[in-house]
Amino acid sequence: MGCLLVAASWLPGCGAGADRTLIRLGHTLDPTHPVHLGMVDMAERLAAKSGGRARIEIFPGGQLGTERELLELLQIGSLGMTKVSSSVLEQFVPAFRVFGLPYLFRDDAHRYAVLEGPVGQQLLLAPEAVWLRGLTYYDAGTRSFYTTGRPIEHPRDLAGLKIRTQESASAIRMINLLGAAATPIAFGELYTALQQGVVDGAENNPPSYHTSRHYEVARSYSLDEHTAVPDVLLVSTVVWDALDGQTRQWLTAAAVESHEVQKRLWQEATDRALAEMTTAGVRIVRPDKAPFRERVAPMFDEFRRDPVVGPLVDAIEATR
Ligand code: GCU
Repeated sequence: MGCLLVAASWLPGCGAGADRTLIRLGHTLDPTHPVHLGMVDMAERLAAKSGGRARIEIFPGGQLGTERELLELLQIGSLGMTKVSSSVLEQFVPAFRVFGLPYLFRDDAHRYAVLEGPVGQQLLLAPEAVWLRGLTYYDAGTRSFYTTGRPIEHPRDLAGLKIRTQESASAIRMINLLGAAATPIAFGELYTALQQGVVDGAENNPPSYHTSRHYEVARSYSLDEHTAVPDVLLVSTVVWDALDGQTRQWLTAAAVESHEVQKRLWQEATDRALAEMTTAGVRIVRPDKAPFRERVAPMFDEFRRDPVVGPLVDAIEATR
């Protein structure tokens, strides 16, 4: 492959005779998080397939920036890979808004069928127009509310609360329809925001709520499971275009194989997170989901009328 220089993301060991590729990957999750462990699995597979010639170095915990910043670094080729929530990707590729539609999937099997089927796979290639290439999804389960004060048993309990959202128009719309005041804050700043009362609550899946330790300051978790927003693994097209065909194949295979491993890790981590938080005294509520569904129902009509996401909603509903 020789010596390829793509800014600082691309450190192919450019000494004389070097024939090595090192891709830097930045993300915002904790190193104990099951999505991080999925990426570790991918990196190990790439190293094994290439006999150590192609490697990935992972920088977790937001060391290299917020999800939006990481995507921007990929676009200019200053970083090789990232993993972001599709909620943040929707600012770059509007079609990804579809995953922000509450209660979109019938169950876990439906979600996997969509992500692994034609709809999910076509969406992975959509970011190429903005210098990003999706490699695979990582499961991020379902998102639910957690609060520092009263537990959320019904949408009326959200009235007037400031709830942190991701930087996502669909997340903001959903929170506002549920009667709370949506407050976008980066994930890395949320612990302090909850602790200092800047917001009254947030929402996330059990492993993220647990590994971020937000449960230390927000002690009620209400499993209304309003959205199932997947995580997406991406490579900069600047870096991708500079890879030889063999390395692209290894990387693609490593990513797809790690998706399968990560699905299993996800289930285990979700069960563990709920058990450990129960032991730690977190109040876990299982509310009736019907009133939550009713409040956000207008989003279905809005999305259906939208020329970009409307056809995707139909295709997802038709997926068996
Ligand atoms: C999930 C997701 C992250 C995202 C976070 C958030 O944990 O995996 O990528 O940053 O939600 O709420 O911001």
